[in-house]
Amino acid sequence: MAAELNGQTPGMDVLSAIRSKRDTRAFTDRSVPDDVLGRVLDAARMAGSAKNRQPVRLIVVTDPEVIEALKGPCDFAAWIHGAPVVVVGCVERSDSIRLQFDLGRHLQNLMLAAHAEGLATCPVTVQRVADVSPILDIPETHEALMYIPLGYRAAGGEAPPAIASPRLSMDEYVSYGSFGG
Ligand SMILES: Cc1cc2nc3c(=O)[nH]c(=O)nc-3n(C[C@H](O)[C@H](O)[C@H](O)COP(=O)(O)O)c2cc1C
Repeated sequence: MAAELNGQTPGMDVLSAIRSKRDTRAFTDRSVPDDVLGRVLDAARMAGSAKNRQPVRLIVVTDPEVIEALKGPCDFAAWIHGAPVVVVGCVERSDSIRLQFDLGRHLQNLMLAAHAEGLATCPVTVQRVADVSPILDIPETHEALMYIPLGYRAAGGEAPPAIASPRLSMDEYVSYGSFGG
């Protein structure tokens, strides 16, 4: 039986999850159990936000026709019909990038929790934000900026090694005291 930690059953540890997560765009037909999805959504919910304003709302979409319609506002979403679930990330309309940062925190929590639960994900950018609102009845106060399709990984769902995205070296990525210093 898994060890208990502060009343929680630990999944993959955080550093392992961060290091091993690869964005994945192909999924099996297996549906996502409600309890698994619930834990993933709860991990997103627990993200902090500036002044605890909590401007983020998530919409869970499982209807294949609606998932198909969600491709329209995006330029790089031709593959999302393969996902059994698409989580749509909405945030209060604002000129402040702090709210977009909040949405990013929520969705990164969601993706890491999904990974720890054995689910694959990949963020999708909405290029034509206004076009999502009528599909999902999103009120004027909020806008959908990103989707997170999720499901169980199909073989070959990640970018092949030849085009997989390498990361910057630590020397390129981090400088000390000044930019490039
Ligand atoms: C903000 C953001 C937007 C992204 N938008 C898309 C997208 O619209 N469509 C897509 O297929 N992948 C999208 N991606 C996935 C990136 O292509 C992926 O994170 C990157 O290539 C690293 O992939 P890796 O996990 O294979 O290293 C997005 C990622 C981020 C962080």
